[in-house]
Amino acid sequence: MTTTPILILGGKGKTGRRVVEQLDARGIPVRLASRSSEQRFDWYDEGSWDGAVAGIDTAYLAPPVGPTGLEQAGKFIKQAAAEGLRRVVLLSGRGVGSPDREFAVYESSVALEHAVQDSGADWTIIRPAWFMQGFSEDWLHDHVMAGELRLSAADGGEAWIDTNDIGDVMTAALLDEKHTGEIYSLSGPRLLTLSDVADELSAVTGRPIRYVDLEPEQHVAELVEYGQTLEDSESVRDLFAVIRNHKSEYLSDGIHQVLGREPRDFSDWARATAKTGVWSA
Ligand SMILES: NC(=O)c1ccc[n+]([C@@H]2O[C@H](COP(=O)([O-])OP(=O)(O)OC[C@H]3O[C@@H](n4cnc5c(N)ncnc54)[C@H](OP(=O)(O)O)[C@@H]3O)[C@@H](O)[C@H]2O)c1
Repeated sequence: MTTTPILILGGKGKTGRRVVEQLDARGIPVRLASRSSEQRFDWYDEGSWDGAVAGIDTAYLAPPVGPTGLEQAGKFIKQAAAEGLRRVVLLSGRGVGSPDREFAVYESSVALEHAVQDSGADWTIIRPAWFMQGFSEDWLHDHVMAGELRLSAADGGEAWIDTNDIGDVMTAALLDEKHTGEIYSLSGPRLLTLSDVADELSAVTGRPIRYVDLEPEQHVAELVEYGQTLEDSESVRDLFAVIRNHKSEYLSDGIHQVLGREPRDFSDWARATAKTGVWSA
């Protein structure tokens, strides 16, 4: 068993923390690196990169959302591979591989995927759909608590995925070299519009939750008011435009390809998550 730690960038996030749990359970050492970790790492502070990557063979990389951060991540991977990183598992996005992708949104993600593929390190790229845990562990939690999902997805469907499923795939990719050079697209088993999501969450919380459709520019304004940067807010608006334009209405079979099982359904996830009390008033 390896004694060299696996570097987890974004290890306190919705996917990274699942990967850390799984590696911990197998007794595999990890090095968490982020702004709030003991090993400090900031995508925007290149002086923090060397310490994180020193002595590391393998890394899990959950990049930032906006174009500037994605560009920094590309720069990082190039530098890290030159300094000895041999294997990287990249969290990307499902739309990158969609045949009719709206290119502008994904341009920076495509560039990052290319940077990983050209880095000289062995790589696996994971492209998941939107995360169910956005509603329980991230900014959409506040929308659930307020009873209004205020987004700009209109009546477009999305194949929401449980990040526990993503964590299982990431762990397999980090530990088994047979996944080298593979790109996996992951989704949940069912398409749900935001109104469907609101209904599901109303049913499990016992509180009325409705979907409020925003014009895209109103969506940006509300995200900025909430505290997100303008660049990230515009990226989120554009990612929701993909849903709004019905470009996310397909299922992907990466969970089955890698794990040989079916992904978790939204209703099952919502029921179990409600029991944790995360949506209790
Ligand atoms: N949300 C979705 O539905 C979805 C779907 C597909 C793909 N994605 C992609 O998933 C990625 C996000 O992954 P996630 O949801 O697992 O993470 P997350 O929950 O958003 O957490 C972000 C992680 O990154 C760290 N971080 C934030 N800013 C940082 C910075 N400037 N420097 C270093 N570390 C930083 C945070 O820790 P600290 O605060 O300690 O720094 C935290 O560990 C994005 O690339 C997104 O495009 C998301």
